[in-house]
Amino acid sequence: MLNKISPEEFYDNLAANYDDVLKDPKCNVQHLNEAAKIFNQYNYHQGSVLDIGCGTGFLSELLQGNFEYTGIDISSKILDYAAQRGYKTIHKSIETALSEIDNKSYDFVFCLGALLFVEDAQTAIEHIYRIARKAILISLDETTEEYIKNFAVPVYDHSKIVIENAIEDYFIIGWTSPTTGISIQTRMIYIEQKN
Ligand SMILES: C[S@@+](CC[C@H](N)C(=O)[O-])C[C@H]1O[C@@H](n2cnc3c(N)ncnc32)[C@H](O)[C@@H]1O
Repeated sequence: MLNKISPEEFYDNLAANYDDVLKDPKCNVQHLNEAAKIFNQYNYHQGSVLDIGCGTGFLSELLQGNFEYTGIDISSKILDYAAQRGYKTIHKSIETALSEIDNKSYDFVFCLGALLFVEDAQTAIEHIYRIARKAILISLDETTEEYIKNFAVPVYDHSKIVIENAIEDYFIIGWTSPTTGISIQTRMIYIEQKN
C-alpha cells in the first residue's frame, strides 16, 4: 500500500510550481475557468469573496470585478502566493476555519478543487451555506477508485452529495492529475442565497 502524506506537505512542495500545473496542457485544468464563466454570467462585480482551499489564489485572475479576497488553506507555502495576489489569508484546515467564521460574513463563497480532501464534506457545505450572503460556487470532484488508491494524499469522492436549489449543477471534464495521469470529472454547482 502507498504511504500517504498530508495535504499540507504535498501542497507545500508543489506551491512554487502550482500555477504551472494549472496552465499545463497535460493537466487540462477546466474547473477554474468554468467556475469563473458561471460566476461572471450573474453580474456581480464587487464584494467580499471567501476562497476555501484557495491554493495560489488564481481565481482572482479570472473573476471580472473588484473583489476583496480571503483565502483558507492548509499549506502556508501556497498561501504566500495567494498573499502576493492580494489575498487575506487564513492558515488553517477547512474543517477548523469554517466553524470559526460568522454567519453571512462573506458575499460570495467559492470552494474549488478542495472538498475532495475533506472527509466530512457535508458539514463543510452546511458551513458554506451559513457563511455566504449572496452566492456560492462549489466544485466536487468525482475521484475514481484508482485515483483514491494512487494519489499521494488521502481523498474522498463527494460528487454525489445531494444539493438542493442549485441554479447550475452539471459535470465537466475537470482536470488530469499531474502525478497519476488520471482524468477526473468535476461537478460544478452554483447556488444563490435567498434573503
Ligand atoms: C487542488 S488545490 C485547489 C486550489 C484552487 N482552489 C484551485 O482550484 O486551483 C487544493 C488546495 O486545497 C488545500 N487543502 C487541501 N486540504 C485542505 C484542508 N483540509 N484544509 C485546508 N486546505 C486544504 C491544498 O493545500 C491546496 O491548496
